[in-house]
Amino acid sequence: MEDGYVETKKSGMSKPQLPDPCIVVIFGVSGDLTHRELIPSLYALNCKNLLPTPFAIIGFARRDWNDDTFRQEMNATMKTVNDCGVEEWERFSQKMFYVKGNFNDDPSLSYKDLAKKIEIVRSKMNIPDNVLFHLATSPSDYGTIIKTLEAASLTKSQTGWRRVIIEKPFGRDETSARELDKDIHKVFNEEQIFRVDHYLGKETVQNMLVFRFANPGFEPIWNRNYIDNVQITVAEDLGIGTRANFYEKTGILRDMVQNHLLQLLCITALEPPVKFEAGALRAETVKVLNSICKIDLLKHVVLGQYDEGEINGEKVLSYKNEKNVNKSSTTPTFAALRIKIDNWRWADVPFYLRTGKRLKSKQTEVTIQFKPTPHLMFPKVSNDGLDTNFLRFQLQPNEGIFYTFMAKQPGAELRLQPVNLNFQYNTTFGISELPSSYQWLLFDAMKGDQTLFLHADWIYKAWNIIDPVIEKWEADPWIKVPNYYSGSWGPKDAEILLQVEGRQWNVT
Ligand code: BG6
Repeated sequence: MEDGYVETKKSGMSKPQLPDPCIVVIFGVSGDLTHRELIPSLYALNCKNLLPTPFAIIGFARRDWNDDTFRQEMNATMKTVNDCGVEEWERFSQKMFYVKGNFNDDPSLSYKDLAKKIEIVRSKMNIPDNVLFHLATSPSDYGTIIKTLEAASLTKSQTGWRRVIIEKPFGRDETSARELDKDIHKVFNEEQIFRVDHYLGKETVQNMLVFRFANPGFEPIWNRNYIDNVQITVAEDLGIGTRANFYEKTGILRDMVQNHLLQLLCITALEPPVKFEAGALRAETVKVLNSICKIDLLKHVVLGQYDEGEINGEKVLSYKNEKNVNKSSTTPTFAALRIKIDNWRWADVPFYLRTGKRLKSKQTEVTIQFKPTPHLMFPKVSNDGLDTNFLRFQLQPNEGIFYTFMAKQPGAELRLQPVNLNFQYNTTFGISELPSSYQWLLFDAMKGDQTLFLHADWIYKAWNIIDPVIEKWEADPWIKVPNYYSGSWGPKDAEILLQVEGRQWNVT
């Protein structure tokens, strides 16, 4: 394998430019995100020779750990530990250090310990004064951490750089997002701020842009003249796990729709950016959001909450019976929306968005359904409208791009049948698992490249679209929940949303 690339037939690829030597400080290092994504992704970068040298990680959390227990703890949960050998993991783990502290401590306490630790690690490992802070904490801690970092003189450097990565959701609504951004800007400049939507780091999402804008064939028909509708499904079979405290305050609209689903919609609908770089891409995605019409809440929004049911042969609890969930909770765990983009390219093309927990299976897909031919001279295959062309970007599982079109079945009579042209990562590139999005997000943040990160203007606009739905639901939930069984495809009303327009969900 060439450093940073999977084996391809194309030779002469240049090695990616590596980030500057730096320290990554992770706040909330004992949490789920660090275990599941951050440390495995940093280690995977290490195995691909994509980390700078020298390099170090400092974890900051409340747990009573030290450097050794932190390393052991990470080792125990790393599923990719053998990616490049046990000895390499040993070498990598020697670059990990720990500081025990409370996020709301006085700057003279644990934040001072952090400052000392940064100095010790820097001089021991000869690292220039470059520090990337990653806030992998509860969103309610972001403001406090940033303020205290400044008070502890940790946010400025005479000789190096400081950057901060902030996880979603960014605020709870437009007003709080604006306040949070104002607080962050008191300490950091825009070029230092990296707001995450991990969907932008997904290989298939970036490939949607490559597909559209590096190939001339589809762009001329990428509009209302040829496209009947667009469907975006982000379905999960998992429930909320141990995240009840977070989820009860968040729900599916804040957790998934305001960010990941609207991001997928923007990538599908945007006009060609001049360049693949932060400014140009962000400008086009904001334009898409600005063209979205006000959503008709009662007609075009279906919300739901999961009841008990069965997933993969196992009985699972209803949302209300999950640990730490209020028994009368109306927090939605499912959403389906019909969105209308009022611009030249998309007028009258419905975008159907659907996401939910405890659905039948984990499937994330963007489907473009083309209009039928104006006149079919062959016998029709069916009357369900599905004998047309589909283009499917499958984000998970079995990542790839699939084009379904009509072909003649071999035989005496002329009979049509839908067939597929497929691109799959595993068969084309020979990799069973794609690099996680966090690898590219961390790599880019260390390099100072904001292309795959959000601008605050996009976030405000996305809240502005979703806030009325959340407000109405929280004031007066208009659908009785629970309203779908775990292991199903969600509430019946989500099917009806499309049926009344003579359509049906493509992912079933
Ligand atoms: C996160 C949400 O942002 O995305 C989770 O907080 C959700 O609730 C997850 O499970 C889904 O991400 P992915 O990459 O598995 O589709």
